[in-house]
Formats: sequence, C-alpha cells, structure tokens
Amino acid sequence: MLKIGNIEMKNQVVLAPMAGVCNPAFRLIAKEFGAGLVCAEMVSDKAILHKNERSLSMLYVDDREKPLSLQIFGGEKETLVEAAKFVDKNTNADIIDINMGCPVPKITKCDAGARWLLDPNKIYEMVAATVDAVDKPVTVKMRIGWDEDHIFAVENARAVERAGGSAVAVHGRTRVQMYEGHADWNIIKEVKNAVNIPVIGNGDVQSPQDARRMIDEIGVDGVMIGRAALGNPWMLYRTVKYLENGELMPDPTPREKIDVCMIHLDRLIALRGESVAVREMRKHAAWYLKGLRGGGRIRDQINMFESRDDVAKTLYDYIGQLEEEMANESIVV
Ligand SMILES: Cc1cc2nc3c(=O)[nH]c(=O)nc-3n(C[C@H](O)[C@H](O)[C@H](O)COP(=O)(O)O)c2cc1C
Repeated sequence: MLKIGNIEMKNQVVLAPMAGVCNPAFRLIAKEFGAGLVCAEMVSDKAILHKNERSLSMLYVDDREKPLSLQIFGGEKETLVEAAKFVDKNTNADIIDINMGCPVPKITKCDAGARWLLDPNKIYEMVAATVDAVDKPVTVKMRIGWDEDHIFAVENARAVERAGGSAVAVHGRTRVQMYEGHADWNIIKEVKNAVNIPVIGNGDVQSPQDARRMIDEIGVDGVMIGRAALGNPWMLYRTVKYLENGELMPDPTPREKIDVCMIHLDRLIALRGESVAVREMRKHAAWYLKGLRGGGRIRDQINMFESRDDVAKTLYDYIGQLEEEMANESIVV
C-alpha cells in the first residue's frame, strides 16, 4: 500500500495535481470515486505570503477529501519555506508537495517548477530547508529532466530523499516535451530502483490496465492519474477496482456522466458562485461529453450559457433524446 510519512492511503491510486481542475469540487468527486490520495492544484509561494485572497482560498481542504496533498511552487528558498510553514500551520492538508515539473515559461523564468530539474544541489537545499521547517511530510513532484540531454531524474530523486523528502512523484516526460510524445516509464523505474522512499509513477496512465502494468513492470508504489480522469472520475474508480481484484467495471452510461457533471457544477457553484462556476464548468462539461454522440453540439451550446439552469436543461434534454435513440436502435437490432 502507499504510505507517505505516517499517512497511509487506502489504495495506490492518486489523482494528479492539475491547475484549474483540482479544486475541492473535483477533488471530492475523485475521492468519492475511490482515489487513495488527491492532490490539489499548484499555488504560488509568494501569493500565499502576500495573502492573495484567491490563492489562500486554494488552500481550503474539506475534511472529506483527506488524505490530501497541497502543492506549492517557488524559486527562492526563503519564500518557499515560509509558504510551506504557512501551509503546515494553517491548513488541513496531510502532505506538502513541491512542484518541480511545471514547464510553463512564466514559472521556469522565476527559477520555479521544472527549472529545478537542472540542479540536484538546489533541490537538496530547498527540500531540506522545507522539511526542517514543517511537521507535515514533504514530497516532490518532478519531471524526468529538462530535455533529453539533461535527464537527472535519479540524481534529483536521490537529492529529495537525502533532504528528508517523504516521497517523489515522477512524470516520465522532460520539460521540453511539455505534454507531447510518450512518458518514459523506464526512467521512472531507474528512480524506483535508486531510492527507498515511495515513488509514484505518472504519465500516460490511460486505463486501469495501464495502472496495473505500471505497478507490475515499473514497481511503483502509487500510480498518479491526470488527464484520463478529466470528465472521467470513473477512471479512478475503475482503476481502484481493477487493482483490487482484476475486475474491469463497465464504463458509465451517458446519464451517469451527466449526473456527475451536474454534481460537479453544483459544487463549483457552492465554491465560486454561479456566474464564475458556469464559465469554469465549460471545459469540464466538454470533457464529460467527450465520446458521447452529438456531444460536440451540446458543448458549443453550453459555451454560451451563463446560468446553471440553462446548462442543466440542455444536458438533460440531450440525454433524454440520446436515450430514446439508443432504445430505438436496440429494438431495431
Ligand atoms: C490541465 C493540467 C494542469 C496541470 N497542473 C499541474 C499542477 O498544478 N501541478 C503539477 O505538478 N502538475 C500539473 N499538471 C501535470 C499533471 O499532474 C501530470 O503530471 C501530467 O498531466 C501527466 O499525467 P497524465 O498523463 O496522467 O495526464 C497538469 C496537467 C494538466 C493536463
């Protein structure tokens, strides 16, 4: 089982941190769908220290989401450590994670995110200072390297371990790859063989079978799932079940997808108010509708709406029609 510091997860399935996605609304859904650990979207160390209202709200943790990991990013030791201390003392999170993978130039230019990947000494220094300053376990989420000529995953993970980090999550891509190409699981395996702290594998786990393969072939202690869970928390549930007993649960029905999409929207509304939530929900709705016949047309309509009731009516009218069509087809067959 996956254990980070003294925090024991009930399974090996981890929801990846995703900016703009992993707020309490979606995290709670992920939890209800069985994820052993959920990770929050990254928050800037400096924004925390400046008491930026939106950033502080991103540190909110509902008890039902636990165990949960809050992720911070930064490029300077002083601010990173101070922000970690704030998270340690003022939040309900179980784990403090440091972002060492964000590839976006706005972040790497400030020596944060994936920029660290070039300097194992800096990693050691930053992580050690953070570990010393807080009580919660500290983990790091990293990419395998900056580019194909600078893959220091093993040195970097060892630096995290020496510094007292409690686990490392490794996304098998370089910074330069962004989200292109394939995640290199062999390098995740090299990391797993090089350190004794838990290693969570990440990148291109698109099915429960992929998760099984990553555990069996790479030996990881946990499997982190990102994009495959977008609009598809069933991916988490199906993976948990598959890892548990080899049983492949069926995909959700279209109506189940829409029901969960609406729960998601209602939770976002409770969090941010209707107008912001409905706009933020547009991308999620598109993900929930993915693969459903005629879903593209409904997505375009939802992109114009400002109210919850318009979204609900359109989704349920659409599902009613789709179910009727499907019933007629099964009669013909
Ligand atoms: C929309 C989106 C936002 C992301 N935001 C973060 C983030 O805040 N922190 C982080 O460490 N990784 C972030 N990532 C990277 C994911 O956690 C994960 O490493 C990556 O998507 C690869 O896993 P996957 O193939 O399962 O999607 C983000 C990815 C996506 C798609």
